[in-house]
Amino acid sequence: MTQDEQKQAVADAALDYIRPHLDNNMVLGIGTGSTANLFIDNLAAVKGQINATVASSEASVDRLRRHGIPVYDLNTVDQVDFYIDGADEANSALQLIKGGGAALTREKIIAAVARTFICIADGSKLVSTLGEFPLPVEVIPMARSYVARELVKLGGDPVYREGVITDNGNVILDVYHFPIPQPLEMEQRINNITGVVTNGLFARRAADVLLLGTRDGVQTLT
Ligand code: A5P
Repeated sequence: MTQDEQKQAVADAALDYIRPHLDNNMVLGIGTGSTANLFIDNLAAVKGQINATVASSEASVDRLRRHGIPVYDLNTVDQVDFYIDGADEANSALQLIKGGGAALTREKIIAAVARTFICIADGSKLVSTLGEFPLPVEVIPMARSYVARELVKLGGDPVYREGVITDNGNVILDVYHFPIPQPLEMEQRINNITGVVTNGLFARRAADVLLLGTRDGVQTLT
């Protein structure tokens, strides 16, 4: 399968994964990106069998609403049963780098609330050590230079993602040349820098299930 076919296959597999659990009380968390978009398109077929969705970006809210799928504010729902989202990188412990689409903070919030986080990704995203993909860090705008200096002290090479403002009104620093052998520790250290809103390491809240595209089909990693 090509990369695009793998993305479609994992989006299909995610729908199959939740299908036995569909009921009118179900609240689904929906992520952001090209793989999540394919899942949103799949969801249209079963929209009558779920209660509501919450979404990690305005782009996903728009796409869900175009399909007539109800989207709610996270504060108005009692639980999120499943959170389905893509990733920029994943390791075998299901720890992730996310935020290539600048939606990392809302993604992390919904992942924290969700009972089960299902990550859907094509095979190119699986790595042995996280960090080949530049790590996105969402930063309060006035702290940008300070946070960049602190990230250099941690060994990284931060680059301001010019022209990008997050849905929360903040900016993104992408940290290049930054292998991350200890994701849990690094997630915490970066979050401790004043001015950081969050970073794209999903180690404390890793995925519960990784549906990974391969040339031969979809692998389920837990
Ligand atoms: C969005 O901010 C990201 O975390 C996405 O989940 C990630 O970039 C994956 O995107 P694709 O599905 O487009 O590869």
